[in-house]
Amino acid sequence: MNSNELRRKFINFFKSKGHAVVPSSSLVPDDPSVLLTTAGMQQFKKYFTGELDAQKDFGSKNTTSIQKSFRTSDIDEVGDDTHDTFFEMLGNFSFGGYFKKEAIEYAHDFLTRELGLEIDYVTVFEGDKEVPADTESEEIWRSLGVINIKRLGRADNFWGPTGVEGPCGPTTEIFMKNLKSEVWNLVFNQYYLHPDGFLEKLKTPGADTGMGLERLATVAQKKRNIFETDLFAPLLALIDEGKPERVKRIIADHGRAVSFLISDGVIPSNKGAGYVLRRLMRRMIVHGTEFEKLFAKVVEIYGETYKELNLKQILQEFEKENSKFQKTLKSGLRELGKLEKIDAASGFKLYETYGLPFEILKDAEISGDKAKGLNREDFEKEFAKHQEKSRAGAEKKFGGHGLLLDTGELKAVDERELKIVTRLHTATHLMQAALREVLGPEVKQNGSDITAERTRFDFFFSRKVTPEEIKKVEDLVNKKIAEDLPVSFVELPLEEAKLTGALYFSAQGRSASGGKAKYGSKVKVYYIGKDLETAWSREFCGGPHVSHTSEVGKFKILKEESASSGIRRIRAIVE
Ligand code: ALA
Repeated sequence: MNSNELRRKFINFFKSKGHAVVPSSSLVPDDPSVLLTTAGMQQFKKYFTGELDAQKDFGSKNTTSIQKSFRTSDIDEVGDDTHDTFFEMLGNFSFGGYFKKEAIEYAHDFLTRELGLEIDYVTVFEGDKEVPADTESEEIWRSLGVINIKRLGRADNFWGPTGVEGPCGPTTEIFMKNLKSEVWNLVFNQYYLHPDGFLEKLKTPGADTGMGLERLATVAQKKRNIFETDLFAPLLALIDEGKPERVKRIIADHGRAVSFLISDGVIPSNKGAGYVLRRLMRRMIVHGTEFEKLFAKVVEIYGETYKELNLKQILQEFEKENSKFQKTLKSGLRELGKLEKIDAASGFKLYETYGLPFEILKDAEISGDKAKGLNREDFEKEFAKHQEKSRAGAEKKFGGHGLLLDTGELKAVDERELKIVTRLHTATHLMQAALREVLGPEVKQNGSDITAERTRFDFFFSRKVTPEEIKKVEDLVNKKIAEDLPVSFVELPLEEAKLTGALYFSAQGRSASGGKAKYGSKVKVYYIGKDLETAWSREFCGGPHVSHTSEVGKFKILKEESASSGIRRIRAIVE
């Protein structure tokens, strides 16, 4: 059974059970609490909490989807038999429609009757101080004749939310014969986890399930691992036979992931999702991947199902990164060769000077066992140390006599420029608030760059902004300027700051290697308006800003264009 058939069977099965079919959302989520889409439930978060109504939006309380997903947490695992970074998650969801009984029966029915496969065993939540044991699921499984049941704790059978908060609950997982990992995870959402750790009972419990297509294909196609399925085998066949199996798997995995990330508008950079992409690309490059035919094959395998895949765009972005990295790669490898041992400090130096990311330093094919003692956590600490230093550096320059400012976002060489970029900076905050008011909350900053000439603002938005809308945004910003609103900031502990509703960069909310938050334990929230609660604009930001909006001057948008797929770019000036 090929993977196209598996996709079709899954969707048709749940359609026949009254589920509305919902297309995959982008790998770049509309949710600032996560870097990339990690699960099918992500686009449905607000239906679980009751903020949105599925009956109204989809015509049913139950939905099904095949979601493009990406897990940075599995990067180090790639190369074994069951893990990949990018994968497709088959899911069915219910927002108050059904709960444990139907969810388990559907899963059992689909695997055993529809596909004729054999369940090896299942796991259920054993219970702890906060959440009772899931005896109900256990009974349902028994009633279906599945008696091989293991009870496990939080680490295995409790789904935590994607990001810092969200719906969660006990799970039951299904294991198949000959697959070394679970194939399907059924989550019974009963709680909402708040950022402070408080578990609140959800008004309406719901079901959230996720099954990896690659793992299902492994079982259905009677293969030994995901790389032998029709989703991977044609890619592996293109990779030089001389390379070790692990390396081949990494290249194939990264080739798929890179293609999908680029096609969803991610651009290689040094932070957030862009940095994840850069690391994957560089790992492919360091192993001498013949990428042209690999990407062509990815598009051949997936192009029918995912129309957004664009070979030309993928090749262009990859070639750009390739030529950039080639400039430092050789010297980087030479320096690495000279080291006897790579620890966090020397490893970070190799990254900073030559752009060799953590995964390359750790790669046994590249560094032998030199980096055996290096771990991600220590590497991240070096990163954080470095960021603090450069922030302190920027502040010193700003406060001192040289008056050269370079925060990454703002650049000024003298006092005159500093005044202009400060006005443009406040204008940029006003513009983001105005864009969200005119176009809706889908608008989210992807990056900005402010020089004495103009501000350039990139944001996620799925279509062209019309001239009428541009005019509205411009007028709204100028209205707020005319109101002469005060601009102020408060410094708050990170979690408290998030609760103010201030906008923050999900891209910056993650460290460079994709793990923990990069923001310090305290952050500044700049707000425009009388007080923080009623302010018209609130954003995490280091400043500087004008003190009253009238100082901004007249605001004018020069141009609106596409920056890449799903990302718009606006250039604007102040007069
Ligand atoms: N959200 C659950 C998972 O990703 C289904 O495993």
